[in-house]
Amino acid sequence: MNANAPILFFDSGVGGLSVLGPTLKLLPNAPIVYAADSAGFPYGKRSEAEIASRVPALLGRLVERFHPRLAVIACNTASTIALEHVRSALDLSVVGTVPAIKPAAEMSKTRVIGVLGTEATVRQPYVDDLGAKFAVDCTIIRHGSPELVELAEAKLGGDTVDPAAVKAAAQPMFDAAEGERIDTVVLACTHFPLLGEELQAAFPQVRYVHGGEGIARRIAYLTRDQVWPSAPSPGLMLFTSSARPPSLAALAPFGIREIKSL
Ligand code: DGL
Repeated sequence: MNANAPILFFDSGVGGLSVLGPTLKLLPNAPIVYAADSAGFPYGKRSEAEIASRVPALLGRLVERFHPRLAVIACNTASTIALEHVRSALDLSVVGTVPAIKPAAEMSKTRVIGVLGTEATVRQPYVDDLGAKFAVDCTIIRHGSPELVELAEAKLGGDTVDPAAVKAAAQPMFDAAEGERIDTVVLACTHFPLLGEELQAAFPQVRYVHGGEGIARRIAYLTRDQVWPSAPSPGLMLFTSSARPPSLAALAPFGIREIKSL
């Protein structure tokens, strides 16, 4: 394995940064290529068929171009719909991001869990299966919020986030039947941990769980015998359209120093 072979991160936008951050804590010298399918954004509003054809095709092109050591689908929507298609199309380890229902069920005392994701993710049978497997004695209340995805993009773009808008976007989950008993919320969209402080302030009574740290540990485990550069290398972020990119200042904590279009 070439020490400079990157880890490829993939999302519709900036959400995958919530997986990249914990990964760099464990693997600070990992070379990173982060691809944001801004031309397909937001995935949460797309159909299953669109995602299932778009994501494997794009990842195939990225793998040919960058020869990554591992690919991370840092997007719950793409993972819950297309992970298996991608795995069968690529001759490479692929790590997905799926809703952290198992740890949430382990933590919940009231046995009422919220799953906050995109509209596409919360309707996936994959989520039913996780509930049946890990949270069979819990009531799971799902809410899809395209507003929170937009707010996270705006935050990384340098805008000030209105706390009232964050609260209003998640409020319907708590207004649903039994919603007032929710004590644990799964952030089932990688964009949402980027609004972690705002969400905690809006609903201080709940605990939030997401997969970022667990995925980072999985990446470190899968690459445990591989060689890395001896110092951090500047990360590259690619966009599939000329959408307004996040500011380089906002990306600096994630090691990204260069932005390009694909
Ligand atoms: N970050 C994505 C997820 O984890 C998708 C956001 C979107 O494009 O709607 O689901």
